[in-house]
Amino acid sequence: MTEQTPVNETTAVKATPTLPDAQTVTEIEHYTDRLFRFRCTRPASLRFRSGEFVMIGLMGDPHPETGKQKPLLRAYSIASPSWDEELEFYSIKVQDGPLTSKLQHIQPGDKIILRPKPVGTLVHDALLPGKRIWFFATGTGFAPFASLLREPQTYEDYDEVIITHTCREVGELTYGRDLIESLKHDELLNEVIGEGFWKKIKYYPTTTREESPKMGRITDLMKSGEAFKDLDVEPLNPESDRAMICGNLAFNLELKEMFEEYGLEEGANSKPAHYVVEKAFLD
Ligand SMILES: Cc1cc2nc3c(=O)[nH]c(=O)nc-3n(C[C@H](O)[C@H](O)[C@H](O)COP(=O)(O)OP(=O)(O)OC[C@H]3O[C@@H](n4cnc5c(N)ncnc54)[C@H](O)[C@@H]3O)c2cc1C
Ligand SMILES: NC(=O)c1ccc[n+]([C@@H]2O[C@H](COP(=O)([O-])OP(=O)(O)OC[C@H]3O[C@@H](n4cnc5c(N)ncnc54)[C@H](OP(=O)(O)O)[C@@H]3O)[C@@H](O)[C@H]2O)c1
Repeated sequence: MTEQTPVNETTAVKATPTLPDAQTVTEIEHYTDRLFRFRCTRPASLRFRSGEFVMIGLMGDPHPETGKQKPLLRAYSIASPSWDEELEFYSIKVQDGPLTSKLQHIQPGDKIILRPKPVGTLVHDALLPGKRIWFFATGTGFAPFASLLREPQTYEDYDEVIITHTCREVGELTYGRDLIESLKHDELLNEVIGEGFWKKIKYYPTTTREESPKMGRITDLMKSGEAFKDLDVEPLNPESDRAMICGNLAFNLELKEMFEEYGLEEGANSKPAHYVVEKAFLD
């Protein structure tokens, strides 16, 4: 693993380009005034499991007195799968956010800092074998599932893959919708996993604050039974169903409570079980 160069007064101003942990931005796509994705180079030494997250960031502003710059790092799910030669990230833009107020302006060729220490609970290893896997996301919580939906093991391990994504507005669904659509035409994945592998996916997007074909929080739609009826599946049960959750804290807690009622147990890398949870952001 590479270590970051300590920043002292003499190296401060030119720190970002010379950092051993610097990676180059290769592609950017903006979706809304709050969401974008970008791709960057991948360090040759970086090995990760699809679904894990890393710390990424930029150099902070120089200290007004000393001129020193410190790395400004935040946790980010890797949205690309483990086999991809580049890395992809799906990001929020918080207008007064220390990192994303700057990160939203990156351009191809710019450097970002990436600490090559992947971690996380949203990995296949943390689940017992099952028939059907559910991915539950709100907002940017879709990111780890963008990785897992492109991971061959997802389709080797399960007969059915259900992805639910709840957002406030329709435009916030675009990244996920485009990605799922692209799987149909992905020659490499269709060859490696098997022609038509994407037919195992059931995609269930919902919005809460803008009109769309399916309105409502996924939690409410499950409680009323509407989601199961729409998807033509039985409610989750510990024999056949496995799940991964990535959303805001309230969403995660609400689903956890529902899962315990279904009889599902929370798993971890060290003790695989029926479902795993990760926060999409801290609050
Ligand atoms: C395990 C983990 C994985 C994460 N993965 C991602 C990811 O893949 N993509 C991503 O955009 N963010 C992700 N985050 C959030 C990320 O770490 C930062 O919080 C985010 O980039 C904003 O940074 P900031 O410095 O601009 O603002 P911060 O000071 O970090 O956040 C300011 C406020 O903005 C809101 N906020 C922060 N992040 C989000 C978000 N993602 N969606 C909605 N509101 C948010 C919260 O209210 C927060 O208090 C992840 C967080 C954790 C803990
Ligand atoms: N998205 C925006 O347009 C917007 C704009 C400005 C500021 N912000 C701020 O940014 C932060 C994050 O906003 P966000 O929209 O990205 O994420 P969010 O608030 O986590 O909402 C994402 C989606 O999750 C749903 N949700 C929230 N709690 C849930 C629960 N317990 N169970 C099921 N679904 C649940 C929301 O539905 P509900 O709509 O019913 O809550 C929404 O559809 C917030 O602090 C917000 O104030 C957001």
